Amino acid sequence: MNQFGGSWTEAKMEIVVSYARAYLVIMSKQRWAKTLYFDGFAGSGLIGSDKTADLKKGTALRIMDITNPKPFDIYYFVELDERYKQALQANIDKNYFGRNAHVVKDDCNVKLLAMADFLRKSPDHRALAFIDPYGMSVNWQSIESLKGLGIDVWILVPTGLGVNRLLKRNARIPAAWMKKLEAFLGLSEQEIMERFYKKQPVTTLFGEETHVEKEKDAIIKIGELYRSRLNEVFDYVSDSFVMRNATQSIMYHFMMATNNASALKIANDVIKPKYKI
Ligand SMILES: C[S@@+](CC[C@H](N)C(=O)[O-])C[C@H]1O[C@@H](n2cnc3c(N)ncnc32)[C@H](O)[C@@H]1O
Repeated sequence: MNQFGGSWTEAKMEIVVSYARAYLVIMSKQRWAKTLYFDGFAGSGLIGSDKTADLKKGTALRIMDITNPKPFDIYYFVELDERYKQALQANIDKNYFGRNAHVVKDDCNVKLLAMADFLRKSPDHRALAFIDPYGMSVNWQSIESLKGLGIDVWILVPTGLGVNRLLKRNARIPAAWMKKLEAFLGLSEQEIMERFYKKQPVTTLFGEETHVEKEKDAIIKIGELYRSRLNEVFDYVSDSFVMRNATQSIMYHFMMATNNASALKIANDVIKPKYKI
C-alpha cells in the first residue's frame, strides 16, 4: 500500500483518469492505432493514509477499470519497490485476468528510454504516459528521448518540494544538489544560476562586493521553466494544476505535454474544474 493523501492526490488521479477516458474515446475511432498506457511510478495499486484503514484504488487500477469504449491494448507499469511491484502484479492477475499488462521492477528512467525506442520502431502505437514521482527522480534526458513520438505525457513536477529546496537562498548549493538540479532540468550550473539568482554590486567597508540574491517567486519560475523545457520537446504543453499544502505553499505543478492540438484542449478542459482545490 502506498501512503500519501490530500485532496490534491485525489484530484491528480481524477485528472489522469478523465483524460484517459477521453483519450480512449478518440483512439477507439482510430482503428489502425494500438494504445499503450505507461505508468512510470505505478505504486502498489492501492493507496491509504496513516489515519484510517480505508484503502482505495490508485491510478493504475482506476486506469485498468476503464473498458468503455475500450481498454488500452497494452499496459506497462514500472515500480522500483519490489513489494509494491508484487502487490500490483497480484491485483492485476486476480482482477484483470487476460489483459496485456506488464508490471516491472525498475527505475522509471530506464523504462522511459526503452519505451522511446519501442515507439520509434512501432509507428502504429500511440501512448499515454503518467509520470508521478515523489521527488526529482526523472532525468531530463529521459523526457528528451520522447521527442517526435506519438505520446501524451502527464508529469508531476516537484517545483516546491524538490527544485526550490535545492536552490538555496544564499546560493551556496552543495555539489551533489547542483548535479541533481542539472540532471533534472537538463541545464548547466551557469544556466541555473543565471535563471534563479541576481547578482548585485554592493558597496561595503572594504569596497565593492557582489551580492547574490535568489529570485522572488522562484517556485512559479521553476514551473514556467519546466513548461518551457517541455515545449522544446513537445509541440504543446497544457496549463498546470498547481498543488498546494495546507499553508498554501506550492508543492507540485502537474502538466501534460503532447504533439497533438486536440489532446492539449482536452487536457486543459480536464484541469480547469480542479483549479479551486
Ligand atoms: C507517488 S507514488 C505512486 C502513486 C501512483 N502513481 C498512484 O497514483 O496510485 C510513487 C511510487 O514510485 C515508486 N518509485 C520511487 N522511485 C522510483 C523510480 N525511480 N522508478 C520507478 N518507481 C519509483 C515508489 O516506490 C512509489 O510506489
